[in-house]
Amino acid sequence: MKKILFATSEAVPFIKTGGLADVAGSLPKCFDKEEFDIRVVLPKYACMKQEWKDKMEYVSHFYMDLGFKNCYVGILQMMYDGVQFYFIDNEYYFSGPKPYDKAPWDLEKFAFFSKAVLSILPVIGFRPDIIHCHDWQTGLVPVYLHDTFQQNEFFVGIKTVMTIHNLKFQGVYDVPTVKAITGLPDYYFAPDKLEAYKDANYLKGGMVYADAITTVSATYAQEIRTPFYGERLDGLLNARSNSLRGIVNGIDYDVFNPETDTLIQKNYNATTFRKEKVKNKVALQKELGLNQDPKAMMIGIVSRLTDQKGFDLIAYIMDELCQDAIQLVVLGTGEERYENMFRHFEWKYQGKVTAQIYYDEALSHRIYAASDAFLMPSLFEPCGLSQLMSLRYGTLPIVRETGGLKDTVEPYNEYEGTGTGFSFVNYNAHEMLATVRYAESVYYDKKREWNKLVDRAMAKDFSWKNSARQYEEMYNWLIG
Ligand code: ADP
Ligand code: GLC
Repeated sequence: MKKILFATSEAVPFIKTGGLADVAGSLPKCFDKEEFDIRVVLPKYACMKQEWKDKMEYVSHFYMDLGFKNCYVGILQMMYDGVQFYFIDNEYYFSGPKPYDKAPWDLEKFAFFSKAVLSILPVIGFRPDIIHCHDWQTGLVPVYLHDTFQQNEFFVGIKTVMTIHNLKFQGVYDVPTVKAITGLPDYYFAPDKLEAYKDANYLKGGMVYADAITTVSATYAQEIRTPFYGERLDGLLNARSNSLRGIVNGIDYDVFNPETDTLIQKNYNATTFRKEKVKNKVALQKELGLNQDPKAMMIGIVSRLTDQKGFDLIAYIMDELCQDAIQLVVLGTGEERYENMFRHFEWKYQGKVTAQIYYDEALSHRIYAASDAFLMPSLFEPCGLSQLMSLRYGTLPIVRETGGLKDTVEPYNEYEGTGTGFSFVNYNAHEMLATVRYAESVYYDKKREWNKLVDRAMAKDFSWKNSARQYEEMYNWLIG
């Protein structure tokens, strides 16, 4: 049995701020259970739902040195959906209303977590062949493993994988502070190790010391080797290009299934969507106070409201777009200017635009089910899961051709009768608007073509099946 440990700062259903949680929560159960024993470790945050905390079972605790501190490390566990989850408990680090706050506090928090991930292993009696780390929060796991842990025979030979879900976030702070926080020796604070542009950089540390680096789509794996997408680490990514691969994300096909989803008004499938899907739209129009019109084209947005997702493009053409015969449903939180922009347009175009500025899992499902199209004009997108959820619900994505959006949405070709959505190349507001309007014209004037697009979208398979096999191949190759 090959043993793999996922180290992550979030995982569904326990805690989620973005797609990382979907991946870390849904991928582990998709591995071949005969061959792989996959377990997951994450922090036990005070802000997790009580329901989950009540189900966790105490395993053990001990004290661990971190910099100048001696810290409590509690271990809890829970079996969920056939996967063993471990939770690291420390009320000092993991209290607060959300998982992340700001540097340098977050850096200290995740230095603690990364070191604790290694420290608990002899205690729980699990020696993984591979520790699979996700994003900067776990970037120090390979570094600590390379450091003092190597002196303990238990750890010798453990391999590490570093998966980049978003290169924009690296965990960066000045060297003296990080030295004090982490307790790592001077040796690591050099430009060929943890240091980048004079600062200490957790993700870079992970990338230098991991045995393999992956990211979440093939196109993003290429893009991050260029200065535009490389976030100043393109040099290192090029140097390590032999160890870098892109494996596209999947989604949980049990949770996101219009045929069985209990969170939506009316279930449907690839044969019944023509009649049934629209009932979700009418119900949502009613719920959110939009004009009740089954024929109006509804465009959905479910997103963090940040620059990454292309909201400056939307802001630029919002007034123009609202002249069209469309309805816009927005669910998201993030930068204040975008939250306020959508609130403003909800007020200006009552009955056409609705802005739900909060986080709501159930509402997100209702939007994926109800909308005709889903707008995601990202500036960059490592993979993107929302467009996969949309495809699954027969909601056609309108995307910019970048990263995972390019790899998962095939643009409509009216001559060949192919495609599963609509896309544009350049980061330009009117190019986006023209693409939205092209979609509108197909929706209103060529309904049969639109429905065939939906047929093809719903026939796509973005479950974890294929990608889990690719991770297994990589694990096998690493274990040798
Ligand atoms: P990212 O991880 O960059 O935010 P992804 O597309 O990979 O983008 O994943 C975003 C996930 O978060 C999706 O599952 C999406 O449905 C969900 N999501 C984003 N904002 C909200 C919100 N306000 N309410 C509910 N779900 C949301
Ligand atoms: C990040 C990326 C997103 C990706 C997700 C899961 O949050 O922004 O594109 O889908 O991680 O890998």
